[in-house]
Amino acid sequence: MKSVLIIILLFIFSAGHSEDGYRLWLRYDPISDVTKRKEYAALLKYLVLEQTSPTFNVAEKELKLALNGLLGLNLTTTNVIQEAGAIILGTPASSKIIASLNLHDKLRSLGDEGFSILATSVKGKKCIVVAGNKDVGVLYGTFHLIKLIQTYQVLQNIYVQNTPRIKHRILNHWDNLDRTVERGYAGFSLWDWHKLPDYIDPRYYDYARANASIGINGSVVTNVNSNAQILTEPYLQKVAALANVFRPYGIKIYLTARFSAPREIGGMPTADPLDPNVRSWWKKKIDEIYQHVPDFGGFVVKANSEGQPGPQNYKRSHADGANMLAEALAPHNGIVMWRAFVYDNEVPEDRAKQAFNEFKLLDGKFNKNVMIQVKNGPIDFQPREPFHPLFGGLPQTPINMEFQITQEYLGYATHLVYLAPLFKECLDADTYASGKGSYVYKVIDGSLHGHALTGMAGVANIGNDRNWCGHPFAQSNWYSFGRLAWNPTLTSEAIAEEWIRMTFSNEQDVVKSLKELMLASREITVNYMTPLGLHHIMGWDHHYGPGPWIKDKPRADWTSVYYHKADDFGIGFDRTKTGSNALGQYAPEVQEKYGSLKNCPEEYLLWFHHVSWDHKMKSGRSLWDELCHRYYQGADSVKWMQDSWNKMEGKVDHERFSQVKSLLAIQYKEAVWWRNSCVLYFQTFSKKDIPPGFEKPEKSLNYYESLQFPFAPGIRPKW
Ligand code: GCU
Repeated sequence: MKSVLIIILLFIFSAGHSEDGYRLWLRYDPISDVTKRKEYAALLKYLVLEQTSPTFNVAEKELKLALNGLLGLNLTTTNVIQEAGAIILGTPASSKIIASLNLHDKLRSLGDEGFSILATSVKGKKCIVVAGNKDVGVLYGTFHLIKLIQTYQVLQNIYVQNTPRIKHRILNHWDNLDRTVERGYAGFSLWDWHKLPDYIDPRYYDYARANASIGINGSVVTNVNSNAQILTEPYLQKVAALANVFRPYGIKIYLTARFSAPREIGGMPTADPLDPNVRSWWKKKIDEIYQHVPDFGGFVVKANSEGQPGPQNYKRSHADGANMLAEALAPHNGIVMWRAFVYDNEVPEDRAKQAFNEFKLLDGKFNKNVMIQVKNGPIDFQPREPFHPLFGGLPQTPINMEFQITQEYLGYATHLVYLAPLFKECLDADTYASGKGSYVYKVIDGSLHGHALTGMAGVANIGNDRNWCGHPFAQSNWYSFGRLAWNPTLTSEAIAEEWIRMTFSNEQDVVKSLKELMLASREITVNYMTPLGLHHIMGWDHHYGPGPWIKDKPRADWTSVYYHKADDFGIGFDRTKTGSNALGQYAPEVQEKYGSLKNCPEEYLLWFHHVSWDHKMKSGRSLWDELCHRYYQGADSVKWMQDSWNKMEGKVDHERFSQVKSLLAIQYKEAVWWRNSCVLYFQTFSKKDIPPGFEKPEKSLNYYESLQFPFAPGIRPKW
């Protein structure tokens, strides 16, 4: 009776708590199931921590916060076993108890960041041990234990061995020093550079907690289109202040390096990477950074791409540029993540081929502490792209994956699009680089070509909006990125399930419905935006909404007509031997799969082929009819998403329910806008009717083409 009362009171209390999404998946609201509460409470009575450290302090604080919220416990900390029900945190070095348990065999394979969680007996008392080789492993293990409780898992005989498969798991913030965020749709940058280093926004700690909870261990805090000011002494002080916040959470700070910095802030006449004075400038600068941040992670560099300066300005190669920085970082254990996102309007070659052509020649020419950071697809974070041919194409070079978490091409933070299926599609693709089973994730985790330096980067979708990511469901994309960077073999379904349970509800029907909704959302979006392999047909510059008509711009490779190539005959980019032969950059098995019109999976059809409007599709429809069908199906499916969500009324909190409901209404409106614009525009080439049964677009093509959005958010800065 007493416990029922407590639970009712807890609920009344938590109902008064404003559910604004700030707490992400670390909500820690009371567990309502009385049996579960009892079961956990018996196992988790007190904490044994024999030594403190900044990271252990963080783990202790988090565990107390979580158990207090979830179970109403006031956990005490001791350094001895008193009775059954101890949670013992530590490493063999920090804890005599853990050392006495002879966990060597278990810990050996776990590395610096892995953890072991096991139910065992110490002096005849049942307890739960969370052990790692290093403090950060214990922190990760603590978050894992909390997650098990949040998702109602059984702890009785728990035995978990868990270690990350990828070494560098890094968020890339495209944040500018004036706090605007390039392709950011969740407000301004979290980093308040103006008030740093003296004012430490408490939010920095919550950012670090959220990242640590999913194993993210690096944060690049500045935009790839970088500003050299960040490397000046006043800014380095600010960077150091952030690094100090992140350190106990196992997160290293990284910066973007502007290649022309020696000229811009160093007063040098050149930034030529082979010039000895330039090299010594960088060496001094990097030494200076390490004086401020002793565990500085290194640099991400965007060079000779979209107008950014780089080694080619001096007729030097990407390897010359990357190695110069790598050499100066190496004594400090820093790394360079050199981006392969390079293409040039002046080069008369399919944009999809350019990065491969440049980097293929440089395979094996990079220093040991350089990774080449490659976007998942060869163009640019489209709703669907085939995997980038550089995966598997550079066997002698460590490659790190770059995914985009922010939804630049997927409806901003307005559309509900769960991205794990997009990430997985790439990770699970077979490159055939060393025969069947050469999956992209094996390139990324280093196992395919035997590289120890491994990484995954995600372009962050985080801003200073109260709920961090703009859309409550966009949080799941931050979450999925972290989980897949830890273990790229997890399934989208498993990740969605744990996220829903922690973020919305453990009720079976809610979990089931939301999972269905999330898992379907990406394909639905592809259908109403870019079905059948279409790509890069969005609005000019801001990339908001449809713009298949974009042409005659200063750069052909920034137009839409360059990519869809619609004409009287048909539509699509011929990338086979009869066209640009971008397909020739892949392994023969991949070429075989996509090369023939007959075999090519339809989701990539117009990526690889220019296809007649009358071509018969698997459905039996003509290509034109199928295209219309997909667009209409996509928009209609958003209606289904709305209906599914509406059923959640009363089952999830009112605040987030209404927010998502409103956002889905916008998503529907915009899906119809995409559909109408694209169907009307492509109809000017196909000259065929919209199939019977489909409603006619409400407005004319002229109307859709006339829409302007000069203030769309997240636009690229003009300096
Ligand atoms: C896209 C995006 C740019 C960004 C670039 C990059 O092109 O629109 O804003 O700078 O990617 O990845 O460097």
